[in-house]
Amino acid sequence: MKNIAVIGSGTMGNGIAHVFAQYGYEVALIDINQQSLEKALATIGKNMDRQVSKGTLSEDDKNAAISRIKSFTNLAEGVANADLVVEAATENISIKLELFRQLDELCKPETILSTNTSSISITKIGAVTKRPDKVIGMHFMNPVPVMKLVEVIRGYATSDEVTSLTMELSRKLEKVPVEVNDYPGFVANRILMPMINEAIYTLYEGVAGIEEIDTVMKLGMAHPMGPLQLADFIGLDVCLSILRVLHDGFGNPKYAPCPLLVNMVEAGYKGAKTGEGFYKYTPGSKELVVSPRFK
Ligand SMILES: NC(=O)c1ccc[n+]([C@@H]2O[C@H](COP(=O)([O-])OP(=O)(O)OC[C@H]3O[C@@H](n4cnc5c(N)ncnc54)[C@H](O)[C@@H]3O)[C@@H](O)[C@H]2O)c1
Repeated sequence: MKNIAVIGSGTMGNGIAHVFAQYGYEVALIDINQQSLEKALATIGKNMDRQVSKGTLSEDDKNAAISRIKSFTNLAEGVANADLVVEAATENISIKLELFRQLDELCKPETILSTNTSSISITKIGAVTKRPDKVIGMHFMNPVPVMKLVEVIRGYATSDEVTSLTMELSRKLEKVPVEVNDYPGFVANRILMPMINEAIYTLYEGVAGIEEIDTVMKLGMAHPMGPLQLADFIGLDVCLSILRVLHDGFGNPKYAPCPLLVNMVEAGYKGAKTGEGFYKYTPGSKELVVSPRFK
């Protein structure tokens, strides 16, 4: 495998393109939004500069990696030579199903089509193509250049060969792949989201305050970040939509999202990206300040 097409140049797409280019692959970075592509290339340059200043990447290797990334707004042009596609577009089922229908038509017959989805069924995505054996989940973690895990998700029809090629490729990026089957939330979010939801219920029921809950989990369980801070970082809307996938997928009331989470998302308080969630964020400040709404 030599040519990788990454679709979507947002938070995850830029990190995925960064890592493939760093490890010698030719990368076509594709987005419908030209501004997003420009921002992604600037972010990749900045993040690689940081690696150079830390001594983990040489200046020459950085320049070579950047020269391996080409950007496209036209899907057909971007995926023409791809051996592997990693789809990291917006988490919306109709966008992803339409993209995979098109990819199936546009890509070479042997191209592996992977998705970085956090919660959408790989089996459902594979079923809109004529190659469900070559459709697989490649769930990178944020920030991609730093986080070691790739959750490799086998859809119902994904072949053994495609699974082992994807595992091997992840190792070539010096990541640690873990193979899992395709059920709602896979493994990572099936375990993480109920914990976050329970932390929100603990707050909602007045058992403890925000800082107290996060401190218990940081100091008591050695988590690097408390669950409420982590929920803000992931995005409360994203947490809510993954909980709904778990709730609908298993039909089990234990996954029902906490009404406080639903209210916060409906009111537009979606965490760090909107400036306020459980904490309030001031640009340029690293201080963690509890939202005045909870005082
Ligand atoms: N953010 C995270 O922490 C995280 C972690 C793991 C997985 N994911 C998954 O990764 C995927 C991307 O998430 P993100 O946070 O990078 O989103 P994002 O909103 O930062 O970026 C999405 C990008 O996709 C582009 N896009 C939308 N429709 C497109 C199309 N049809 N063709 C090409 N580009 C298109 C948008 O213009 C945007 O630039 C989602 O499936 C998400 O669930 C996210």
